[in-house]
Amino acid sequence: MQVAPTLWLEFHGTEVSVAEQARTVQIIASEHGGTDFSWATKAEDRRKLWRARHDVVYADKALREGAQLWATDVCVPISRLAECITETQKDLAGSFLPAPIVGHVGDGNFHVGFVLNPNDPKEMAEAERLNQQLVHRALSLGGTCTGEHGIGCGKIDFLLAEHGEAVSVMRAIKTALDPDNLMNPGKILRVQSPSAVTVSETIQASNLGELEALARELLPQMTYDYYAGGANDETTLRENRAAYERITLLPRMLVGVNATDMTTTVLGEHVSMPILIAPVALEGLAHPEGEIATVKAAGAAQTLMTLATLSTSSIEDAMGVASGPIWFQLYVFKDRDISAALVKRAEVAGCKAIVLTVDVPMLGKRERGMRTRLMLPEHLSVKNLWPAGLQGVPKGVTDSGLDPYLASLFDSALTWKDLEWLAGMTKLPILVKGILRSDDALRAIKYGASGLIVSNHGGRQLDTTPATISVLPEIVDAVAGAVEVYVDGGIRRGTDVLKAVAYGARAVLVGRPILWGLAVGGEAGVKFVLEMLRQEFSLAMALSGCPGLASVTRDLVRAL
Ligand SMILES: Cc1cc2nc3c(=O)[nH]c(=O)nc-3n(C[C@H](O)[C@H](O)[C@H](O)COP(=O)(O)O)c2cc1C
Repeated sequence: MQVAPTLWLEFHGTEVSVAEQARTVQIIASEHGGTDFSWATKAEDRRKLWRARHDVVYADKALREGAQLWATDVCVPISRLAECITETQKDLAGSFLPAPIVGHVGDGNFHVGFVLNPNDPKEMAEAERLNQQLVHRALSLGGTCTGEHGIGCGKIDFLLAEHGEAVSVMRAIKTALDPDNLMNPGKILRVQSPSAVTVSETIQASNLGELEALARELLPQMTYDYYAGGANDETTLRENRAAYERITLLPRMLVGVNATDMTTTVLGEHVSMPILIAPVALEGLAHPEGEIATVKAAGAAQTLMTLATLSTSSIEDAMGVASGPIWFQLYVFKDRDISAALVKRAEVAGCKAIVLTVDVPMLGKRERGMRTRLMLPEHLSVKNLWPAGLQGVPKGVTDSGLDPYLASLFDSALTWKDLEWLAGMTKLPILVKGILRSDDALRAIKYGASGLIVSNHGGRQLDTTPATISVLPEIVDAVAGAVEVYVDGGIRRGTDVLKAVAYGARAVLVGRPILWGLAVGGEAGVKFVLEMLRQEFSLAMALSGCPGLASVTRDLVRAL
């Protein structure tokens, strides 16, 4: 049987029982043609399945890049577990080898996975050294260890006494992982690479609302809250949706709509539909591939993605997999050099426009986020900021979480004059994102904008601003065709797209649903979102008597 990298199961810091871990092993085995996992019908089980896959993808990536995973299993009495983990962390901190503690469980068992090149004698020697330390530590705390000189699982009788059934589950895990190791303790357990990791599960959702429910089940609460939340009472967040529901459609009959053509251009770039991807920070929290998966899915759907300044993939990595147009969303930092460098990198990498976000002079009061205090796990960072030396939240700077810290780096003194500064610095067209008033729309054009995105940041900034769809028509009218006008916020249905286009939007941008797609199925999940919206929009066009976008006009919509 092929051995899977179970050692990489993090469970997002949550302690799980050995029994749960055994089931995860079963899941992973099934990924590699092993046992059946049809039992994973309950939400809780699906969550485990997702997490297992999530972490397997990381392992797989490291392995493809030539690393190998080796591991030591440590078992100590539950009463000594915390102490053992703290001391082990100290051991590992002093090593040059990446050796994360993973999958520590409430029954006194955890693993240390060494990511190393076994052909490098220095790395091998270091792994041996660390392994010995772990063994001695475990023994001194009355435990055992399956690493070199360890006693092995055959002698974990103290656990049997303390935990009864847990031990038999643990034996099952060991058997699933490596029967040899169970019988012959005394060597580091080698964990082999799975040949391929695929997420083949079909997504069981009839619409984007159901997809969000699936994602919510899967995501850690902290991540879901960060993604889903809005500012204050979330009035604008709700209103973004509610306003679409208040707009009715007046379909034209007997037009002949056996085919609908929704192709269009956005700032001159061809796209297959007027449905684009909004910039969303930290997509790596939803899926190991993060923005990379989104860029690939956008390319496959022949539409456009906007890459966020605060992405977990670098501009260069994202552009490396792009097969369609990408815009780069820019925050202006107090240190202008950071922003200037980002613009240059976006240009060099081939981005087609800069999207300047103007509605974050300060961070909105996002109470869900304040409660959960989002921090990035160690393997993620805001990659675009590395060259500026901003690898993460400096220790001791804030305990309020990542978001407020990053926002504190933005320039809250920004004015329209700075748009001129930006326009003078780049040949790329600039879209201004965050416009809610027609006078601001005209100012933006005066100072150099080539396009506008009517947006309230998905209800995450100033609460009680109007729904974007409700101000779109007056902005479109004021602009009078001088530049293209886009809208985002609350678009969840093809009929929403129809309404926005009818009110004069060149295209819509979608934010959160992309994250739900990512969480549920990575690249396939984002494709699912885009195809769901495409199909719904196509149907809405046909049912409204619109064979092409030119016929999606304002007479189709009526606000209640
Ligand atoms: C989790 C999250 C992170 C976001 N990060 C950014 C960002 O970094 N820059 C930006 O301009 N907008 C950001 N936005 C706002 C989106 O670009 C977009 O305006 C909004 O999500 C649209 O609303 P929707 O989510 O209802 O589709 C973010 C939105 C969410 C939900």
